[in-house]
Amino acid sequence: MIGVWKRYTDGGLAALESVDLRIGHREIFGVIGESGAGKTTLLDLLAGSITPSAGKLRVLGRSVGELQGRELRGFRRRIGVVFQGVHLLSNRTVLENVRLPLELARKTRPTGATRRAEQDTAHDMLAFVGLADRADHFPAQLSGGQQQRVGIARALAAGPELLLCDEPTSSLDATTADDILRVLVDARDRLGTTVVVVTHDLDVVRAICDRVALFERGRLHDVLTVRSRGGGQDGSYLDRARRALGA
Ligand SMILES: Nc1ncnc2c1ncn2[C@@H]1O[C@H](COP(=O)(O)OP(=O)(O)O)[C@@H](O)[C@H]1O
Ligand SMILES: [Mg+2]
Repeated sequence: MIGVWKRYTDGGLAALESVDLRIGHREIFGVIGESGAGKTTLLDLLAGSITPSAGKLRVLGRSVGELQGRELRGFRRRIGVVFQGVHLLSNRTVLENVRLPLELARKTRPTGATRRAEQDTAHDMLAFVGLADRADHFPAQLSGGQQQRVGIARALAAGPELLLCDEPTSSLDATTADDILRVLVDARDRLGTTVVVVTHDLDVVRAICDRVALFERGRLHDVLTVRSRGGGQDGSYLDRARRALGA
């Protein structure tokens, strides 16, 4: 993005001010800043759910502000979003929650996928996040961290090229947060997904991010390299975390 501004109201305060940023393919890119810094606004722009007030914003090769209708829906299908707070449907099982985006995609654009295939994909994604044994549970029967992982499985179900996560570990204890971070690293390493993770937790950045953007009151102050990408994909998650921490 080049010179991207976002104002929610005409002449109002800018939620983002002239942001220049480039996020690499298969990068795990962190976004940090205090409350109100514009982090969620940035994710919403990347997701195509809001449009820039000014500037050039290209995501996955498309100019986001110019997409409409079918094209916009097609673009959005290439992106998975893990919202702040999880938003699972409480009256559906875990498996049904993960399958839902696949069903919706089939309804808006026939994919030829059968319900059976969707069921299998949803199962695969639950296994991917380590919750295969919880398929028939309802969200309320799961811990907060497990619900968050279901949210990630749902976001990954349609095979997105870009995964956007808003504060995925906030309000979770450290061990539970580790499980989530491992899933995000796996998504990049095994599925080839580019991951953008908004957080106010520096430990998250140290543990998994390649680079991080520091925002303050709508301004991008810095983009820092956390660890070299060269060695970044070798070894286990814990090995990489140790290297990133210099241990
Ligand atoms: N839908 C909206 N309408 C008006 N102002 C908004 C809206 N969403 C966010 N803002 C404002 O934009 C600024 C950045 O918000 P946000 O992107 O949510 O920050 P963060 O996620 O870093 O806490 C804040 O001043 C916030 O009040
Ligand atoms: Mg936010």
